[in-house]
Amino acid sequence: MSAQFPPFRVLFSRDQILRRAQELARSITAATQPEPPMLVAVIEGARPFARLIQQLVPGSLPVHEVRASSYAGTQSTGTVQITLGKDLPVSGRHVLLLEDIVDTGRTIHALQKHFLGAGASTCRVASLLSKPSRRVVDVTIDYLGFDIPDEFVLGCGMDLDGRYRELPDIVIYEADVERAFVARSGAGSTVR
Ligand code: IMP
Repeated sequence: MSAQFPPFRVLFSRDQILRRAQELARSITAATQPEPPMLVAVIEGARPFARLIQQLVPGSLPVHEVRASSYAGTQSTGTVQITLGKDLPVSGRHVLLLEDIVDTGRTIHALQKHFLGAGASTCRVASLLSKPSRRVVDVTIDYLGFDIPDEFVLGCGMDLDGRYRELPDIVIYEADVERAFVARSGAGSTVR
């Protein structure tokens, strides 16, 4: 990992992520013939994953964006708000939601409910990660990258209050590691 970031433990390297994304894209392609899905990325976090899937699935499909928010820092607040993409033209379309991580399941559940209510024929889910032990709402992930334990992870689009999104690997957040790194590098202003 680059020395511009704290030395968090790597859970999945960039190579592992790329390989798994290729496998998922192959499954998505095989399952969605002949009608390509409408790709809808849950931003901000899923943008890098969505870009990978877009590049790997044939047809140069556009990626639409929806924003749903339920997190403050490392805590899920329990209430999901859809703040962008509510009016996407999903009627009669096979929507494929692209998500970075399914945690309690509330975000995906709320989005599926919304898009099916808006007339989508189907609303399936591809997620890079899932934390099954944290599930509060039962959701089906049709295309899953990796199950992970109950840890707060960062990188490949996933952030902590805007930090570490651009890390290429997926790492486990540890406050102590971050504090020690900040103390060493004198970059105290970015950590609360
Ligand atoms: P859910 O509604 O609880 O399933 O939460 C899903 C959203 O929470 C994801 O799209 C992420 O934005 C955020 N989230 C959940 N766990 C993590 C994590 O470990 N790291 C970063 N973001 C997370």
